[in-house]
Amino acid sequence: MTGTAYVVDELISAKAIAARIEALAREIGQEYADTNKLVVVGLLRGSFIFIADLVRELDLPVEVDFLEASSYGDGMESSREVRILKDLRSPIEGRDVLVVEDIVDTGFTLSHVLRLLKSRAPRKLRTIALLDKPARREVDLKADWTGFEIPDEFVVGYGIDYAQRNRNLPFIGKVRFPEEA
Ligand code: IMP
Repeated sequence: MTGTAYVVDELISAKAIAARIEALAREIGQEYADTNKLVVVGLLRGSFIFIADLVRELDLPVEVDFLEASSYGDGMESSREVRILKDLRSPIEGRDVLVVEDIVDTGFTLSHVLRLLKSRAPRKLRTIALLDKPARREVDLKADWTGFEIPDEFVVGYGIDYAQRNRNLPFIGKVRFPEEA
């Protein structure tokens, strides 16, 4: 499938994403108003553009760290087995932490990461996902903040890839195979 030609149809514009991030950042600012420093943890690689835009809208002292978990490989199906490929650089015990995810799909990745981070006893642990595909959920879980709920479509752009391509699109688009009609 990966070699098959596909087209990308815009689903969420760059402008709509920017407006939503502004609103989310205000809510997050209220939730963490008392923090002395918020550790914003981006899940690589899909969240790299989202986290970059989000932290620039946050009116809080922040520190940025990254964690990489394996999920889809190069295909369109979740592997369900989550492995940590790159761990955080800093300890989070007693700290305020915000986990930034690109998409919650089956929920396996985020639930695994949350279990791991909770075991390190942060003071406050919250999650934000740019996109949520509730129809695909297999684990009972919802991010504390969600940018957009989307239907069961495979999406790319704004950091999100299909077989490592299209991360650089400024909008979120859905992948369509023309021969599928
Ligand atoms: P989950 O473990 O099934 O919730 O999968 C979450 C991860 O799968 C996300 O962080 C994405 O990296 C990837 N993923 C889920 N849906 C899509 C999609 O539509 N396009 C690209 N990657 C996706």
